[in-house]
Amino acid sequence: MAENIIYCYSGSGHCLDMAKKIARIIGDTDIVMMRSFPAVTDASHAKRVGFIFSCMGGGLPGDVEEYVKAIRIAPDAYRFAVEQYAGYLGCGLRKIDDIVHLDYWDGISNHSTAIWLMPHVLTFPPTTPNKAQERIDRKAKEIGAAVRLGRKSEKRPPKGAAFELMSKGISASHAKRVKSFKANDNCVSCGTCVTVCPRNNIQLVGGKPSFGTNCIGCLSCVQMCPTAAIDIGNVTRKRERYPNRQIKAAELSEKVIHID
Ligand SMILES: Cc1cc2nc3c(=O)[nH]c(=O)nc-3n(C[C@H](O)[C@H](O)[C@H](O)COP(=O)(O)O)c2cc1C
Repeated sequence: MAENIIYCYSGSGHCLDMAKKIARIIGDTDIVMMRSFPAVTDASHAKRVGFIFSCMGGGLPGDVEEYVKAIRIAPDAYRFAVEQYAGYLGCGLRKIDDIVHLDYWDGISNHSTAIWLMPHVLTFPPTTPNKAQERIDRKAKEIGAAVRLGRKSEKRPPKGAAFELMSKGISASHAKRVKSFKANDNCVSCGTCVTVCPRNNIQLVGGKPSFGTNCIGCLSCVQMCPTAAIDIGNVTRKRERYPNRQIKAAELSEKVIHID
């Protein structure tokens, strides 16, 4: 059993990239993915337990809130969380804090993968993919060092109306958009979308993806497709994709990734 556990939700790889980099700094860590029910919920042996996830629709992505409630943590374990978001932190950190009572937390504004909603330039401050990657690397070093030393945050994660505009509404309306997901002519029938979908919601029919109704809106299929062949209606047709270039699509589907 690893000394540390990091629970990670990542749609397009940015949070997984950060989780791996922090894990390399603290050493001997299992990264347990939370895109579906986590393979390990008993973390009671771990000295440090972390949560690294993206903001989606102003709150926690997918079913992360339910998953976190199922995790057992030792009373004296060090607990930390990192949220990545485009421009609006929302209430994800506060929700995790309510469940596990965090020792340390941080947030990092990153490239927007909400390309169906807005182009990435709304990221604050506006940035390019390379600059966004540099920021992940810098923050991972900073946070990794803080976690290794057991640093404590002085304040609780922010709460109040400005952070709680949560938007089940946005998530729900996003799930409905699955109806307008479709493959364009770039599709080479490689099946990456099928593999990367955490809900087995995509099948190849006649070599082209066909989408079911069990979508959590992670956009992994749109972002990780190597030929940018999946569009959401006409909205994404002229928008770039923003996957993390250091993460392979197959890694997102792993259950547990061990880092020595
Ligand atoms: C469906 C969806 C909803 C999102 N909602 C928000 C949001 O409400 N506020 C925000 O600042 N960023 C939002 N984002 C952007 C992501 O939080 C951000 O791009 C993050 O870096 C993605 O990390 P990941 O690749 O590990 O999932 C959203 C992304 C997606 C796909």
